[in-house]
Amino acid sequence: MKLSSILSLLPLVSANFYTKDPNVFELTAQNFDEIVLHSNQTSLVEFYAPWCGHCQRLKGEFSNVGKHLKDIATVGAINCDVASNKKICSKYRVEGYPTLIGFRPPKFNLDDNNGKEKKFQHATEIYNGPRKTKPLVSFVTSRMKNYVKRIITEEKLLNWVKNFEETDNERIKIVVFTKKDKLSSLLKSIAIDLLGIADVVYFPVRANTVITEFDVDKDSDKAELYVIPNGNLNEKVKYTGDVAKQSIVEFLTQFESIEPQISKVLTTLENREDIINGKKKQSKKSKKNHEKDEL
Ligand SMILES: *[C@@H]1O[C@H](CO)[C@@H](O)[C@H](O)[C@H]1NC(C)=O
Repeated sequence: MKLSSILSLLPLVSANFYTKDPNVFELTAQNFDEIVLHSNQTSLVEFYAPWCGHCQRLKGEFSNVGKHLKDIATVGAINCDVASNKKICSKYRVEGYPTLIGFRPPKFNLDDNNGKEKKFQHATEIYNGPRKTKPLVSFVTSRMKNYVKRIITEEKLLNWVKNFEETDNERIKIVVFTKKDKLSSLLKSIAIDLLGIADVVYFPVRANTVITEFDVDKDSDKAELYVIPNGNLNEKVKYTGDVAKQSIVEFLTQFESIEPQISKVLTTLENREDIINGKKKQSKKSKKNHEKDEL
C-alpha cells in the first residue's frame, strides 16, 4: 500500500463518534464550559478515543442513553484524541477510555443574594457501574437537583399560590397534579430550566384527595398541569399539549410577565438541537422515535 493511501485512511480512525447523533453533544474545548458547566442541569460526559475498542462498543448504548435523557439532562462526549480537547481531558484526570463522568451542579438558592456571589462549581463523579442504558440513566436522574416542591393538600396549595404577593417576585406558579407519587425526572428538569422564572410544585392525587378549585380528573392517569400567573387563581390556565419539554415551554411564552425570559429558554432548547447536529431535519426524526416521557 502506498503511503498516501494509508494516510487517507487516518481521518476515519480519529473521526468523532457523535457528530451526527441528535441526542449526544459532541463536546469540544470551545463548547464544553457553555454546555456542561454553565448549566444547572446535570450532565453525563463520556471521555473517549475513537481507536478504543470499549468506546466503540459503548457507542450504541451511549446513543440510547442520550435518547432516554433528551428532555431530562445533558449527555455529551468528548474525543480526547483531538489535540485541542486534551487540556479538558487532563483537567478531569482522564487516564483510560472510556471514562464516564457525571457533572453535578450545586443547588442554586433563589432567595439568597449572597449565593450569587459564590463561585459556581460542579461536583464531578466518576461512573463505575455497568455500561448499560438503564443504570446509566438512573445514575444521572438520581443526581439531578430538585426544585419542585411537593404539596399534598389543597389548603397548602392555595396558601402557596397566595404567597405570591408577599414574596414580591415575578415568577409565575405552576402546579402539576399527578396520579404518581413519585416526582418525574422530566418535571424536575423543566423546573431547572425555569429556575428564576417559574416556581413549580407537584401534587400527588389519590382517590380521596379533595380538590375543588381545579378541574382535576381523578380517574384519568394523565398528569394535569396548570399555570397560575400573578398569584391569581382566576387567571389559571390549563395545559393540554404534549408531555414534552419544548411544547410546555412554548405554551409558557403566552404569559407576559415572564415572556422575555421564557423566550430565552425556548431559544436555548431549540438551539440545543442545532448545536448538537447542525441540522433541524434530523432532530425532527429523533423526536419521533424518542420514547414518551411522563410527568
Ligand atoms: C442557575 O440558575 C440561576 C437562576 O436562573 C442562574 O442565575 C445561574 O446563573 C444558573 N447557573 C448556571 C451555572 O447557569
